[in-house]
Amino acid sequence: MAEAVVGQLVVTLGAALAKETAIFGGSLLGKEAAALRGLFGKIRRSKAELESMQVYLQEAERFKDTDKTTAIFVGEIRGLAFQIEDVIDEFTYKLEDCKHGGFAGKMKKRLKHIKTWHRLAAKLQEIEANLQDAKRRKKDYAVVGRSASRLSNQALNFTRDEDLVGIEENKERLIRWLTGGGDGLEQSSTKVTTVWGMPGVGKTTLVAHVYNAMKLDFDAAGWVTISESYCIEDLLKKIVVEFGIAVDVANIDMRGLADSIHDYLQGKKYILVLDDVWAARVWLEIRNVFPTSNCTGRFVITSRKHEVPLLATRESAIHLEPLQAHHSSVLFCKGAFWNNDDKQCPLELQKLARKFVAKCQGLPIAIACIGRLLLCKPPTFAEWENLYTGLDSQLAKDVIPDAHMILKASLDDLPYDLKNCFLYCALFPEDYLLRRKTIMRQWIAEGFIREKEENKTLEEVAEGYLVELVDRSLLQVVERNYTGRIRNCRMHDVIRLLALNKAKEECFGKVYTGSVTQAFSVEGARRMSVQGKNLEHMSRSGATQLRALHVFGRDTDVESVPEAVGRLQNLEVLDALRSKLKYLPNSVVKLQKLRYLYVSASVTFETVSVAAVEVRNGIHHLAGLRALQYVKASPEFLREVGALIELRTFGVCNVRSEHSADLSNAIAKMSHHVHLEVIAAAENEMLQLEGLQLPPTLSFLGLRGQLEKPLMPRLFSSWSHLNKLTRLDLAFSSIDEGTFPCLLVLCGLCFLNLSRAFEGKRLNLCAGSFPKLRDLYIWGASQLNQVEIEEGAIENLVELSLADCPELKILADGIEHLAALEKLHLEDT
Ligand SMILES: *[C@@H]1O[C@H](CO)[C@@H](O)[C@H](O)[C@H]1NC(C)=O
Ligand SMILES: *[C@@H]1O[C@H](CO)[C@@H](O)[C@H](O)[C@H]1NC(C)=O
Ligand SMILES: *[C@@H]1O[C@H](CO)[C@@H](O)[C@H](O)[C@H]1NC(C)=O
Ligand SMILES: *[C@@H]1O[C@H](CO)[C@@H](O)[C@H](O)[C@H]1NC(C)=O
Ligand SMILES: *[C@@H]1O[C@H](CO)[C@@H](O)[C@H](O)[C@H]1NC(C)=O
Repeated sequence: MAEAVVGQLVVTLGAALAKETAIFGGSLLGKEAAALRGLFGKIRRSKAELESMQVYLQEAERFKDTDKTTAIFVGEIRGLAFQIEDVIDEFTYKLEDCKHGGFAGKMKKRLKHIKTWHRLAAKLQEIEANLQDAKRRKKDYAVVGRSASRLSNQALNFTRDEDLVGIEENKERLIRWLTGGGDGLEQSSTKVTTVWGMPGVGKTTLVAHVYNAMKLDFDAAGWVTISESYCIEDLLKKIVVEFGIAVDVANIDMRGLADSIHDYLQGKKYILVLDDVWAARVWLEIRNVFPTSNCTGRFVITSRKHEVPLLATRESAIHLEPLQAHHSSVLFCKGAFWNNDDKQCPLELQKLARKFVAKCQGLPIAIACIGRLLLCKPPTFAEWENLYTGLDSQLAKDVIPDAHMILKASLDDLPYDLKNCFLYCALFPEDYLLRRKTIMRQWIAEGFIREKEENKTLEEVAEGYLVELVDRSLLQVVERNYTGRIRNCRMHDVIRLLALNKAKEECFGKVYTGSVTQAFSVEGARRMSVQGKNLEHMSRSGATQLRALHVFGRDTDVESVPEAVGRLQNLEVLDALRSKLKYLPNSVVKLQKLRYLYVSASVTFETVSVAAVEVRNGIHHLAGLRALQYVKASPEFLREVGALIELRTFGVCNVRSEHSADLSNAIAKMSHHVHLEVIAAAENEMLQLEGLQLPPTLSFLGLRGQLEKPLMPRLFSSWSHLNKLTRLDLAFSSIDEGTFPCLLVLCGLCFLNLSRAFEGKRLNLCAGSFPKLRDLYIWGASQLNQVEIEEGAIENLVELSLADCPELKILADGIEHLAALEKLHLEDT
């Protein structure tokens, strides 16, 4: 994956070169101009060289496993690319540095940096020479060409009987579809069925089993494995050979191939399996070759990509999921105790067997691999335990070629920026929930995400990448929001181990778990992930190349951020949620590139007050800010914050009545608002928000504080244009029977949380109210004694929670109308 490194670097070099015009536009000293010109020349050369190399690497790395000379060469290039990256980073940093300080200070720095420019140019020259050497060596010592073996399909074909577990149901479905329902095949029809799922989940196994059992029922049967870099002509040739059509494939053109297939299948009942299809277009390009009338065709397409199942005829798509625990155990025992007649696990090994199985998380390929590994060991506790301890590294090594192969096949196909994003996810601990927002921001900060299309924000591009990794089954979605957007996902542990091995091999990043007993060196790693508390085996020397440090499992009690943070001129995200900060340093307003600023101590519910953080004057300088959460209100702050018109997320605390006008004015200027939270200084503080104008982009609104009762109906009615509002949280607002119906204008609401916000006795949900509501939380309604749900009200409610409602003594009237209800939570009622 040196290609990923180089691809990334080309972009960085482009960004560095873009500064050239600006620099030479200003006034430069003679010597300075010469030095910079020399350096830019070198950067341009490096960029040109790397660009041509990128294409080569992309191809070469597919064969890395089989050709040592190429492997060494690729490794060398990666090392040199890292060196170039370091040079460019130093250059960019020093260049920025010249812009700070007074006139005399700047001058001094510029003079001092002339030397640096010469040094960096010389360094690039040296790297370039090394690159040429490497290229020459590669040429001199190259042995075989690239005709070296491609990915063998055979490795993925494991149709041995012992591997067939837990597929009964899907097997029957597939057979049913292939036979076309009841008795025998319907005449003259073609039907496409698809089987998709993550790598190693057993797609090929399932289909091969069915195929072998059924192929004799067809006049013609063929199985073709599609490699990712397919070419239509080769594909047609393979089909011709598979069907055994008598033509000379070596001397026939595309048209001839297509015609011969078409003619051959006339009047026949045939089946064709297209295994491991990488893109829907493969099928779209060949489907016209097959006759549609006067014959019966059955196509089975397997794929690990989500777009492909959409090709299936009506509902003939199977999504293969990892095995259930019970089936996993059976499969495991069949593998590990293949020699035993009863294929049972002896009592003393059962605990370890469960641990092995748990590790595989239902992935048949991993279970089968481990089973085979154990089969070659004496079945004793000591041997097994030994293997278990080393399992993580075993799985990741070529010791288990099948598991390794599946990941390699998935990665070969990924564009380089996605490869980086993927490997990055592996740096998180096992079973870690990757939050969409967090992971997206980290990718952006790493520079993996580039603006691709006009008018698309980096966040939108990044989200597209996340969706792509999910669609390729490399990440699994754990939770989506009410509208189906990914909220968080997870990487399958087997995939993660393989990816981690790759990351280490590629110097992309290393993980320190603290469980190692031998010395662990940070040396050479570009990224470090520390996942254990015990640091005594970690040697930190040689960490000069480190550019990212992740630390897990340690809460920070940070109380202050140093003033020097203002020097981090490229900082984009400052996330200090759940820390103990009380105020932000003054210098924070110098962070021109800051886009997200999250600061807060605990936001507790019982006491309305939030330990919000104070920001001193000057926040209006941060014009690019998109998120600002949670800051203490003050007249000065509120007057300034209106200048931040790019804000999407804004949370403000300690709001007092007298702030209301300033707050409303500020919010009126923020036209992109998506998420707004206003939290009063105290439970009885009145939020006078009648003048508040909310933009139609708003999706989340949270108001904590009293609202003026007589004005409430008008306030709520003024929200009728908020079509995108999906979540509303109100606390302490004193809503009653009379004002509650005014909220019904929010007909897009999916989530409503009323915490000590309802003070009426009766809550009536009339027919047609909140048609999209999925979650309704009512907490702390002290008077509430009756809830009525009319037929046709909150029809889509999934979760209903009533807590701390001491007067509520009977279950909600009409609850039987809630057909979608899954969860009812009653507490202190
Ligand atoms: C898989 O391998 C078995 C045994 O080697 C063979 O009989 C079968 O045809 C293969 N299946 C496919 C689909 O290649
Ligand atoms: C249907 O297939 C048969 C068998 O190959 C062939 O003889 C016949 O001409 C075909 N009919 C049509 C309409 O293509
Ligand atoms: C981008 O947005 C601008 C202004 O909103 C519009 O004029 C332009 O056509 C958009 N470009 C694309 C490619 O959508
Ligand atoms: C859910 O996702 C959609 C985008 O698909 C977004 O517009 C909406 O704001 C999200 N809702 C919440 C409450 O996060
Ligand atoms: C409802 O809002 C309160 C405070 O406003 C909050 O503490 C609570 O967690 C929210 N409930 C849910 C389910 O989000």
